[in-house]
Amino acid sequence: MKKRIVIGGTVVTLAVVGLAVAWLGGFLPSQFGADPQRHRSPTGEVPATEQRPGDPEAGYHALVNEPYVSCGMPQEAWSRLAPETDSSDLLPGREGRNAELPYSLTAHVNADGIEIISNNCLVCHAAPIGDEVVVGLGNPFADFTVDARSLVNQVGRYVRGPAQTAAWQHWADRIEGIAPYIQTDTIGMNPATNLSWALMAHRDPDTMAWSDTPLLEPPPETPVPLRTPPWWWMSKKNAMFYTTIGRGDHSRYMLFASLLCADTVEELDEIDAYAPDIRAYLESLSPPAFPGEIDEALAAEGRPVFEANCASCHGTYGEAPSYPNRVIPLDKIGTDPLYAATMTDGSLDRFYKWVDRSPHGGTVRAAPAEGYIAPPLDGIWAVAPYLHNGSVPSLAALLDSRLRPRYWRHAETREHDAEAMGWRHEVLESGKDAAADSAERVNIYDTTLPGYDNGGHDFGDDLSEQERRAVLEYLKSL
Ligand code: HEC
Ligand code: HEC
Repeated sequence: MKKRIVIGGTVVTLAVVGLAVAWLGGFLPSQFGADPQRHRSPTGEVPATEQRPGDPEAGYHALVNEPYVSCGMPQEAWSRLAPETDSSDLLPGREGRNAELPYSLTAHVNADGIEIISNNCLVCHAAPIGDEVVVGLGNPFADFTVDARSLVNQVGRYVRGPAQTAAWQHWADRIEGIAPYIQTDTIGMNPATNLSWALMAHRDPDTMAWSDTPLLEPPPETPVPLRTPPWWWMSKKNAMFYTTIGRGDHSRYMLFASLLCADTVEELDEIDAYAPDIRAYLESLSPPAFPGEIDEALAAEGRPVFEANCASCHGTYGEAPSYPNRVIPLDKIGTDPLYAATMTDGSLDRFYKWVDRSPHGGTVRAAPAEGYIAPPLDGIWAVAPYLHNGSVPSLAALLDSRLRPRYWRHAETREHDAEAMGWRHEVLESGKDAAADSAERVNIYDTTLPGYDNGGHDFGDDLSEQERRAVLEYLKSL
């Protein structure tokens, strides 16, 4: 309400544009409704779609400097709570205040002249291995187990004056809308998919206007457990996400994070102007090189074993590489079905239709397959824990299902063990039920809970011990 008074003149204009878009929009659902397959994809090969060209260098600059998440914490209030920035969290190429912020935060000055600090993509899509921040690595320690409203309230205590209060309120309203749907029960599990649905529930797809009360039935409160995949696979993938739901223009789909704050079609368009550059940057990334020694003779022995047993799904590497872009149906892959099943059982179709009605509807399409993409394996040594739900803590256990722990937790040191190709972890005797308190509970990865199953993908089980060792060595070199 407050914002309407401040920008009263603009609201009238927007309402008129909104009406026109709504009128056009009225035709879209029925037009798309004629094609029931619009929101489903078959398993098997994913066809390529032409992408808008972009400039990777400009894309990196935009990724670490532009306010594509434009609401957040007033800087003055945030600075009272902020810990000292560790120099290892600084990234090159950042401008102004950003040069002194940790990589996951971006600063900008809003229309009222208030400096705002927001989370950027790297809160989920970067993590340190050793002393080095790896941009594009899914953050295995991202912690969404805390109610997002608690930070909002903490920051709120330090907000001063009407302009800061208005900025804080803008952000607080958005978090209030999404907080019930983005709390996970295990550290490292990422609620991004549920977050997108929650935002769509609160936004008018025609005008982008935010509504404090949901306009669509919100998603279920509990996010399906997911780990974040690395960005460098996108240069090979023809569709985005584990179920290949992200079809069409990838640059638009990948900036859905900006739906948190973009309140007008104009703001979405401004972000869209540099989105192809961000996509081009993501696709220019190569995986970090394996930091240890590789036994070249053993790796060479592993290559033909890999090509005979794995390449039909994961492709070939080295000179003249190939990648088949194949979605494997649930009954064949056998990994936890919950994610692909809920994406395709019809219970989320209202959000896929929201995408159709949004300004990007002509060029992006939500169409999941009932299965999981066999990902490229470039830099696979670095992307533990493995599988879409992060249920398998090391690569050795992925290739031998007998080694997969039922209950485990990350070691407190949060060290990556390149040799084992996983984060250091402890195997536990019992699951979340036996945890002493909630702090212990959120650290336990419990594969007996819904969505957390660690079975399936048993293609390594039939190899001999020596073949498995050789394939593991070969995987270090990808
Ligand atoms: C809250 C955490 C979070 C934020 C913030 C976030 N992402 Fe993601 N991202 C994820 C998760 C989780 C997935 C995997 C979802 C899936 O595959 O179903 C993902 C998937 C992706 C993928 C597809 C990767 C693949 O292999 O299919 C791309 C590309 C991507 N994100 C780009 C971005 C960009 C660009 C931003 C910032 C504008 C961003 N993400 C912000 C969590 C996040
Ligand atoms: C029939 C197709 C198929 C075959 C054969 C296959 N895989 Fe996979 N692989 C998949 C699919 C699909 C996934 C993703 C499953 C998921 O995330 O639930 C996957 C996941 C993986 C992952 C984990 C990726 C991640 O995101 O964590 C690794 C590593 C892997 N496979 C290696 C291998 C190796 C090595 C072999 C040969 C011994 C092999 N795969 C054989 C289809 C296959």
